[in-house]
Order: sequence, then C-alpha cells, then structure tokens
Amino acid sequence: MSKPKLRIGMVGYGFMGRTHSNAFREAPKFFDLPHEPELTAICARNKDRAEEFAANWGYGSVETDWRALIERDDIDLIDIAAPNNMHHDIAIAAAEAGKMVMCEKPLGRTAAESAAMVAAVEKAGVPNMVWYNYRRIPAVTMAKQMIESGALGRIYHYRAKFLQDWTIATDLPQGGEGLWRLDVEVAGSGVTGDLLAHCIDTAMWLNGGIDTVTAMTETFVKEREHALTGQVEPVGIDDACAFLARFDNGSLATFESTRYARGHKALYTLEINGEHGSLFWDLHDLHRLEYFDHGVEGTTRGWRSIHVTDGEHPYMGNWWVPGLSIGYAESFTHQAADFILGLDGEAAAPTFADAHRTDLVTDAVLKSGKTGQWETAH
Ligand SMILES: NC(=O)c1ccc[n+]([C@@H]2O[C@H](COP(=O)([O-])OP(=O)(O)OC[C@H]3O[C@@H](n4cnc5c(N)ncnc54)[C@H](O)[C@@H]3O)[C@@H](O)[C@H]2O)c1
Repeated sequence: MSKPKLRIGMVGYGFMGRTHSNAFREAPKFFDLPHEPELTAICARNKDRAEEFAANWGYGSVETDWRALIERDDIDLIDIAAPNNMHHDIAIAAAEAGKMVMCEKPLGRTAAESAAMVAAVEKAGVPNMVWYNYRRIPAVTMAKQMIESGALGRIYHYRAKFLQDWTIATDLPQGGEGLWRLDVEVAGSGVTGDLLAHCIDTAMWLNGGIDTVTAMTETFVKEREHALTGQVEPVGIDDACAFLARFDNGSLATFESTRYARGHKALYTLEINGEHGSLFWDLHDLHRLEYFDHGVEGTTRGWRSIHVTDGEHPYMGNWWVPGLSIGYAESFTHQAADFILGLDGEAAAPTFADAHRTDLVTDAVLKSGKTGQWETAH
C-alpha cells in the first residue's frame, strides 16, 4: 500500500543541503515511516547549479526564489539549509503559509530572532524541528538513556569542547560562499553560535537547563577582506570562546570552542561525571561510548569502551549486523526518520522552542564575553 507523501522543498544546496537530501533518501529505506518523503523541489539562487543538484539527488523541480517555493501548493515541508541570516524570514513565511518547517542550527542569529520563529510555528500549529543532529549519533543517544536510567547518579560535572583550525590564515577572506561563517551579519556570531550551539544543545538534552554562564571570547584576526565587497572590513565574530556554566541541577560545566586549535578539524568531545560513574564521547570515534562504572568491585574496575553497534543499541537495529558501523551522515537520517515518525505521534525534538533555549544560552555567553560578568542564560 502506498504511503502518503511528505513533499519537501529544500532551501540551500551546500553542505547541509547534501546531508539533508541524503537523509530523506535514506530514512524510508531503513525505517518504517508513516509518510514517504519526496524531494519535490530544491531552491537556490543559481539555477544551473540548482538543476545540477536536482539531477544528482533526484529533486523533481528547481526554484530560485524561496518565496516562490513557499507559495507552492505541492510542498508540505520547508527545510532550511541556508546560512543563518536566512532562517528567520524563511521559517516565519513558511509557517504563515501553513508549511511544516525544519531549520538548520542555530535557529536564530539571536534569541530575539528565534523567539519570533517559535511564535510563528506555534501560532500556525505546524510541526517544526531544528537539525541538532549530534543527539542522534547512537553513542550519544545511549548516553542519554544511561543518564535517564540513573546509572551516573547525581551529576557533578559536564565538560565539552569543539575545536577546529580552518580560519588561522590571516589572508582568508570573510563573507560569500563557504566563508559566510566569518561575516557577523550573516552568521550572527562565530564559534559560539556555530560550534558551541551544538555542545549546548547536547548538554541541555543530557543534563537539563543551564542557569548562568561566564565567558571569555576573542577575535584573533581583527580585519579581513570581504569576499563580496573587496574591502578590508572589521571582523565581528568570536574566533574562540570558553565559558563556565552552572546547570539547574547544580552541576558545573566548562565549554570551549575555537577555530584556531592547529591540528583539529572537528574535535567535538563531551564528558559527564556523576556520583556512580562517568561517560566520555568523541566525535572522531563516534561509535564508542567510554563508561566508568564505580559499581564494579575489585581490580577490574576501570573505563570500558562500549562499541555502540549492537542491535539493541539506539537506532542500530535498523542498520547492518552487530559490530558494523554507521557514520556522521546517518545522524541526519535518524533525525529525518524521527521527524516523520513524530508527525503521527509525539513530536520529535529538538523543536524550535528547544532550539530557542540554546539561543538564550549563546546570547548570554556572548554578552558575558563583553561584560565579564556572570549572566543569566534562560
Ligand atoms: N547540523 C550541523 O552539524 C551543521 C553543519 C554545518 C552547517 N550547519 C548549518 O546549516 C546552515 C547552512 O550551512 P552550510 O554549511 O550548508 O552552508 P553552505 O555555504 O555550504 O550552503 C549554504 C547554501 O545556502 C544557499 N543560499 C544562500 N542564500 C540563499 C538564498 N537567498 N536563497 C536560497 N539559497 C541560498 C547557498 O547557495 C548554499 O547552497 C547554516 O545555518 C549552518 O549553521 C549545520
């Protein structure tokens, strides 16, 4: 029996346009979904490149103006995989047109932007989700299950970092394709909204709300040529950020991110220390969850490395056979699958409202970076 279609209009064919397209193609092949995703239209400003992308990924049509995409009657879901400055206007227009909306992170460039986006989807009553994909790496999902089961007991510490090194060159321009992340007008912030937003989303999912933060931020390269204007312009983003946080549950945290850690490309690690045990996870070894269980008696007590690939591990029963890995791309596949499953049941998280809470934390971090004070993060 054929399933009702979920007709997708995607905005953006860059890095995330590819991961989302791949996810919507893979999801119904590995998960039993109540709706069949259909790649109905891809929207980007360059028609030739959009047509090439459509042919490669199997999109049925192309649009060059996102407003025209939203006006179409044959689209159910608008998926925003465009730079951060596009999220607000597209999401609100899509919600007002009664479309479901999925949006890349950070939801807004500021919490004020994302508050308006939350209001729009809630007023329209449309399903909505933000692509904080790291929650759905099986080892991270398993960490959540273990914490919820009480395996760690009271949590004392949360520690996360996300390190890169790709903006060290002083002659790297800001702005334009691929480099919009260095342009504060487009990105909203630097590593705080780009990388720490991921760490904060995972942290609040695993360990609850963040109460207060104090941060230091730095912009190491103060001026860069702008790729679009050709002028040397001030750099408005934070190149590096480290902050301390207090969670609502009383635990203490440290977070660090930079694009100046020579040798690191995407080193996202997190560690949680509880009364009965600790967990550690590293994106470079994403299938492993390191676990210290203080309940083990005797000389064999120590860290164990769990290879999260068995059928009973989160999501893994839908893939190959025990012991075989999946990867980064499949975290997006899990998210697409959960969104579609949630349409006929409990809505999958993170919703726009959840992602807005992350924006409140990043706003507080950036504010603290300027004031040097502890700031409220909710
Ligand atoms: N979840 C994650 O792990 C993750 C990873 C990378 C990026 N992101 C987020 O995804 C979003 C996109 O990032 P990216 O790395 O894919 O960027 P990218 O530069 O690779 O791609 C951006 C795309 O948006 C298109 N675009 C720009 N303006 C447009 C307009 N007016 N109309 C239509 N299309 C337009 C560009 O042509 C391009 O195709 C950002 O919000 C970013 O923060 C999330």
